[in-house]
Amino acid sequence: MSDDKGFTAKEALGFATFAAVGLVLGIAAYQAGGRLSGAGSGAVVASAGAATTPDGQALYVGNCAGCHGGQGQGAVGPAMKPSAAWSDAEFKEAVLHGHAPGGRELKNVMPRFGTIGLDGAPATDAQLQALHKYLGTLP
Ligand code: HEC
Repeated sequence: MSDDKGFTAKEALGFATFAAVGLVLGIAAYQAGGRLSGAGSGAVVASAGAATTPDGQALYVGNCAGCHGGQGQGAVGPAMKPSAAWSDAEFKEAVLHGHAPGGRELKNVMPRFGTIGLDGAPATDAQLQALHKYLGTLP
């Protein structure tokens, strides 16, 4: 009886450890999967062109969040709230060429996406609109 009990406790501990490791691996795999599918959908958007609506959030996370913050709150670059309220044309000029409204030239730290492209391909109007729209959804 007592032997049985001891064995069961050990077994339980073993199972708990196994479950914990499994959970960690599961989360890691889930995150890797998300990243992979994110890259995948970027490639699809680039090849399908205007046929697919670009994912503004994925574009933002992949190209802008490193400098403007995960929620557009600002970091190296300023917060996105003011430019979220610009017109699509103004936003496009700033992102592609660094020309902000009022003739203000953005510092070179801000990449010229008209030159380097988005996700390795020339930026499309649909991508810029999706990006701009996504910024409008941030708090
Ligand atoms: C390497 C860092 C970096 C990356 C990446 C970056 N930016 Fe910027 N961005 C900046 C900096 C720094 C400024 C401020 C420049 C200035 O004020 O002269 C800026 C300014 C801007 C502005 C003008 C904001 C304002 O209110 O004046 C917009 C709009 C903007 N960025 C959009 C984007 C978008 C969209 C992306 C991604 C497609 C992006 N940025 C990626 C650094 C970056």
